[in-house]
Amino acid sequence: LTVDVEAGHYDTGGFEHYLLKEISEQPETVARTLRGRLDERFHIAHLGGLNMDARETRSFRRVKIIGCGSAYYSGQIGAQLIEELARIPADAEPASEFRYRNPVVDPDTLYVAISQSGETYDTLAAVQELKRKGGRVIGIVNAVGSAIAREVDGGIYLHAGPEVSVASTKAFTSTAVAFALLALHFGRVHDLSPADGRRIVDGLAKLPDQIEEILKQGDRIRDFARKYAGRPSIMFVGRVRGYPVAREGAQKLKEISYIHAEAYPASELKHGPLALIGPEMPTVAIVPDDELLDKNLTTLGEIRARGGNVLMIGHREPDAKLADDAIVVPKNEIELDPILLTIPLQLLAYHAAVALERDVDKPRNLAKSVTVE
Ligand code: AGP
Repeated sequence: LTVDVEAGHYDTGGFEHYLLKEISEQPETVARTLRGRLDERFHIAHLGGLNMDARETRSFRRVKIIGCGSAYYSGQIGAQLIEELARIPADAEPASEFRYRNPVVDPDTLYVAISQSGETYDTLAAVQELKRKGGRVIGIVNAVGSAIAREVDGGIYLHAGPEVSVASTKAFTSTAVAFALLALHFGRVHDLSPADGRRIVDGLAKLPDQIEEILKQGDRIRDFARKYAGRPSIMFVGRVRGYPVAREGAQKLKEISYIHAEAYPASELKHGPLALIGPEMPTVAIVPDDELLDKNLTTLGEIRARGGNVLMIGHREPDAKLADDAIVVPKNEIELDPILLTIPLQLLAYHAAVALERDVDKPRNLAKSVTVE
């Protein structure tokens, strides 16, 4: 069951849809998530809302992240950031699965609940179960004063402003940015060097301008969307940092264009889904310039060898033998690149939905906030 949240009194600010407005707002919303939180002297993040001193911050041995849908995918990006920057084991799980499997609540684990609306019933119920069992829970939430925000022990507000369109975009990127701040904070309390701290602080500060650069490619991305919108099914692949990006890209496309999409780790293709690849099934491949670049390029070759079209999202124009089309985004630090790689996928889904004349802001069968079981 779902309940509907009406668009209400917000206007589209001259954009054709709320979704395009919210995608276009991201330079500003990311800047708002960062505002007042970056310390360029000590290369740390200021996160007073966590209500946690350094000793307590050091005491956690694991981080467990819960959320639903896109919130869960942003949590997968968050888990990787925390492991990479703070070297604390972290993983993400759908809140609905978590709450139904009678989880073991561990006193050495910090639980992080993610929600744009702060009202998602499954996430709220998981938080309440954790609290009942004595777990320490923080929230990464957009809606100030929402049910989840009131329930948690502390947290990070996104300050992304109201998100009206059912498909989450600006809340997704702001959540990933909030996780980068959290990972920087944990990292600098543990063993992240000042030099690496500076690298992340500088990288975060660059994000708004780089998002602006990607948005300028809107027309080109619209052309690709029109080209691929007629296909019945699209595969999304990514490795490690690229995998949650692929999942979010597939989710956005399904949700608003109703095109069937699957997301797989690129390394898993040959364990099954490669059987689907052929001229009918194009692949959107997330290929950042990181230590896995060569592996990813090999995957593109395998797809092309089976007649599959490839749209590559990455940091350089690919060899024409490996991809039919490419969207090149500005490079940041490898840990932060997933945030930027997500933006073209939002635009791709948006323009595919428009090309297919879908109800972009209110896709069928979905509601903005799922406040019942
Ligand atoms: C995102 O595009 C979806 N509409 C959906 O997966 C959403 O992210 C999920 O329902 C969680 O919502 P929340 O962030 O408000 O808790």
